[in-house]
Amino acid sequence: DNPELIDRFGRIARDLRVSVTEKCSLRCTYCMPEQGLPAIARDDLLTAAEIGRLVGVGVRELGVREVRFTGGEPLMRADLAEIISASRAAAPSAEFSITTNGIGLDHRLPELLAAGLDRVNISLDTVNPEHFAKLTRRDRLESVLAGIRAAKAAGISPLKLNAVMMRETLADAPQLLAWALEIGAQLRYIEQMPLDADHNWARDHMVTAADLIAVLSEHFELTEVGRDDPSAPAEEWLVDGGPATLGIIASVTRTFCEACDRTRITAEGTVRSCLFGDDETDLRALLRSGCTDADIAEFWRAAMWNKQAGHGISLPDFAPPVRSMGAIGG
Ligand code: GTP
Ligand code: 5AD
Ligand code: SF4
Repeated sequence: DNPELIDRFGRIARDLRVSVTEKCSLRCTYCMPEQGLPAIARDDLLTAAEIGRLVGVGVRELGVREVRFTGGEPLMRADLAEIISASRAAAPSAEFSITTNGIGLDHRLPELLAAGLDRVNISLDTVNPEHFAKLTRRDRLESVLAGIRAAKAAGISPLKLNAVMMRETLADAPQLLAWALEIGAQLRYIEQMPLDADHNWARDHMVTAADLIAVLSEHFELTEVGRDDPSAPAEEWLVDGGPATLGIIASVTRTFCEACDRTRITAEGTVRSCLFGDDETDLRALLRSGCTDADIAEFWRAAMWNKQAGHGISLPDFAPPVRSMGAIGG
């Protein structure tokens, strides 16, 4: 009887990602459809107390150490601070973070930090206002930048910025890196994964880490350092000899599935063992039927045991999962 979330390949999940909503204030083309995702009925969404309980089970019974709240956009939940404080109360030893698009973060940060938030990752693909508006289908660059500046001013460290590499914004990469260096945030470039609701991803159209490095190398000297932790998605590069670094998350061309330490809970309370793969195990029904924490832990363990080997993006029979990124949370 293993107390941890171990799978058939011997991987142990210690990093929990909880999606708290399908709603978002942007419509990034690599993620969301123009009209947004179908709304989740209120009763189907986990409450703050239910999320807190699951986080408690994950940390106390199953060895989870880090918890990240995602969406959609987590700030779309008016009760995000309550979600964090319920989780913190249930699992005081864990590290709590959010991945956000930054819109409205400047106003929300004080209550989130008071609730026990430790870290923030903010998505920013370009600092060119026209390109930003086109990619996200919303003209909100200024409010994202305000959110990033507020996180920096609040002393959040490390402060990571996530940029999905797209053909349309590849030429903006040096300007974005310069901006991140100037405000003292760590920029991480991400290869686009086939998780867009519109199914427009194409292997021969996506921007690879190699494409990006070629563009950045015209302006910066990049030296590969590697990963500090084998399960971290990002590989680090020194920029102009350091100490500043750039992260590259090459999910497609340099897969890291064999070291994956992730377990996921969707906004409706199902466990997803992998970003890809449609297997989900419902924990919400258990939560609402008076089950014990030990019962929940048992189901969660069983769900993770069957985790697939990897996303298989390069296999000839690859098919993207039914849920798009906005409904999984990255
Ligand atoms: P840190 O712990 O702060 O380094 O965060 P993170 O990189 O683990 O998470 P974040 O939410 O910032 O996600 C950054 C990118 O990594 C997004 O594109 C995610 O979709 C991707 N990502 C996160 N977890 C996984 C995973 O298990 N597999 C793959 N392929 N990509 C992942
Ligand atoms: N491929 C890679 N990363 C993606 N994200 C959203 N959609 C995709 C995709 N198709 C990123 C967001 C955010 C993180 C949670 O996932 O930009 O930074
Ligand atoms: Fe929203 Fe994030 Fe998706 Fe962009 S990537 S549409 S910010 S959920």
